[in-house]
Amino acid sequence: MSINNNALSTYRLLKATAEVAEQSLAGRIQHYRAHLKTEEKELRTYTQKAAADLLGVNNRTLKRRHDQGDFDNINIKKGANGHYAYTLSNIFAMAEVLGVSADQRKEKDKLQVIVINSLKGGCGKTTSLVNIAAALATTNIKRYRIGIIDLDPQGSSSSFFPSNDHEPITVGDLMRDCIDLDEGETWEDLVSSAFQTTHIPNIRVLPSGMDDFYFEHETATELKESSSYESTRHYHKLKEKVIEPVQDEFDIILVDTAPSLNFMFYNALMASTSMLIPVHPEAVDFDANNKYLKRLGEIYHTVAALGHEGWDFMQFLVTNYVKGNHSQRDIVKDVRSAFGRQVMSYPINHSSAITASSSSFNTIFDQKTSDSLASRESLLKAQENIKDVVDELEMLIRSNWPSTQSSLAE
Ligand SMILES: Nc1ncnc2c1ncn2[C@@H]1O[C@H](COP(=O)(O)OP(=O)(O)OP(=O)(O)O)[C@@H](O)[C@H]1O
Ligand SMILES: [Mg+2]
Repeated sequence: MSINNNALSTYRLLKATAEVAEQSLAGRIQHYRAHLKTEEKELRTYTQKAAADLLGVNNRTLKRRHDQGDFDNINIKKGANGHYAYTLSNIFAMAEVLGVSADQRKEKDKLQVIVINSLKGGCGKTTSLVNIAAALATTNIKRYRIGIIDLDPQGSSSSFFPSNDHEPITVGDLMRDCIDLDEGETWEDLVSSAFQTTHIPNIRVLPSGMDDFYFEHETATELKESSSYESTRHYHKLKEKVIEPVQDEFDIILVDTAPSLNFMFYNALMASTSMLIPVHPEAVDFDANNKYLKRLGEIYHTVAALGHEGWDFMQFLVTNYVKGNHSQRDIVKDVRSAFGRQVMSYPINHSSAITASSSSFNTIFDQKTSDSLASRESLLKAQENIKDVVDELEMLIRSNWPSTQSSLAE
């Protein structure tokens, strides 16, 4: 095949641009990544009052139990002010001592795999997902076991939960079967170890990596060469190779996706029990959203024909909503009148606290109010907003768990 001269120049230009970018930016990126890894990212600590609130006990009870030595086996440090500074792990250990039981899914309750997707880039998928995960994990004493799978090779959600491993196993590595098992190691062990622990004790993350892009190319090539039965297996890889081996280790898995309807996304759909579609209420975004929904229906048809069992819920989530902006308000009104209860009651509002914490790859629940680059007031407001969203999401999740269905109906 001959390449036309102009195309050849374009190709050369692209190659040269990539080289320049690598030379001039690689150092900076490496420095940044090293900083992310070695930085001992620590979750905020809690005051005694905050710990008591989270545990649902009286502050004085907590003090008394301290005096009795009931928490002596827990390594609780004191802050510079001489007061206890409780970590979330401390609080979970104290809950065991106090008999505050965890409220996770029971045997018959299905693992929830919630996929967040939209074709629109930058509509707030990652920001919403990491903050929702952090709120689910840190603002209650239920001790949900939360997994995050980063299906976007750009690795945005992984960056919020940096790994200490130099080269962590990625979701693409597992789906592409490119890791050899150690002697005596099972596939389940390998997948379990690939879900990295994070600075939030009940969140584990399966990161992505740039090589995960190859999954698209390899799948396309294999599809061309395989029989029709084999070809259908390409859509089951996330479910069968990654999620099923660890399904007993989690209550809720949140899957972040790239703004694309690629093979990774087909896999996400196949593995999903529910779907969250962020909608950024700008006219042009909304138009793109309508086209996306049409295509999503077509893709879902394929996935359903391959055995998907249907969603427990599919919800639209209005994101990055600027209160007081009339055009956004009108769009949200239209969205609500069109989709009714399928739209989450609360939007995620645009917030300077979210912008500020995202710029340093923190969720708004990671930091002490005093560490935030935004004002204390805007941080608390944003936290309250995400908590409202999460309360509704939790209701949707729990209404699909037989062990909690009856109590919710009361
Ligand atoms: N509620 C919010 N308040 C303030 N900034 C926000 C909010 N939601 C998203 N943003 C900002 O919008 C930008 C895009 O958000 P984000 O990266 O979450 O989008 P995305 O849909 O994951 O993008 P991509 O399609 O590239 O994966 C980021 O700079 C983020 O900080
Ligand atoms: Mg993203």
